[in-house]
Amino acid sequence: MQRYLLIVVLGVGLVSAASTVLNTSPVAAQTRQSPAIYDSDGKMKLPTGYRAWIFLGAPLTPEGLNNNKATFPEYHHVYVEKPNVDAYSKTGTFPEGTVIVKELARVLEPTFPDGSRKEESGRGYFTGAYNGIDVSVKDSKRFANSNGWGYFTFGHHPLPYEARAAESPVTECAGCHIANVAKTDMTWVQFYPLLRDKKGY
Ligand code: HEC
Repeated sequence: MQRYLLIVVLGVGLVSAASTVLNTSPVAAQTRQSPAIYDSDGKMKLPTGYRAWIFLGAPLTPEGLNNNKATFPEYHHVYVEKPNVDAYSKTGTFPEGTVIVKELARVLEPTFPDGSRKEESGRGYFTGAYNGIDVSVKDSKRFANSNGWGYFTFGHHPLPYEARAAESPVTECAGCHIANVAKTDMTWVQFYPLLRDKKGY
């Protein structure tokens, strides 16, 4: 009886030890899935949870400074996952599978013709509602024709955004990034202090 118990105890111990090893295996820890997921017809699915990624910055090209003809009069909130920020800071390139999200946010109800309003902190621009989302994805094989990055737009309008998007033509997106920021991995790092100045978090 005692021997039987001992065998059972040892057996249970072995199984739990094995499962601990499996769960903490370094291979499992290193394998990260890219948030770029595609349908069978090649359309990308709208990324989720990106507002909890690292916030890189918010360029703003308001109507008041663009003759009321701004293509994107909203803030451009730019997000990327932390491991990809870390990799860029070390190597100057983003890992394969990196997704960068640019979500547009309107300026809060303007009270002046230039789109601004006055608040306790002063006259200026304050953040209104979300109003669109553009995405870039690094995948050197899939997007070999556009310098290794694919560009997608899930709509330029209030929530909800499109659930899926086809890759945008090079003339609409990638062309401008290739012409201007090919040297910084197709990304306008000069506008994002975390990537530009490398001062850390
Ligand atoms: C005429 C040039 C131009 C075109 C065309 C263009 N972009 Fe960009 N893009 C920029 C500039 C400049 C920035 C950074 C400053 C800003 O957001 O205003 C940027 C930033 C981005 C970012 C944030 C990451 C980064 O590269 O800095 C994404 C994502 C992005 N664009 C996607 C797109 C998509 C998708 C399209 C097509 C629908 C597109 N872009 C078309 C000029 C362009």
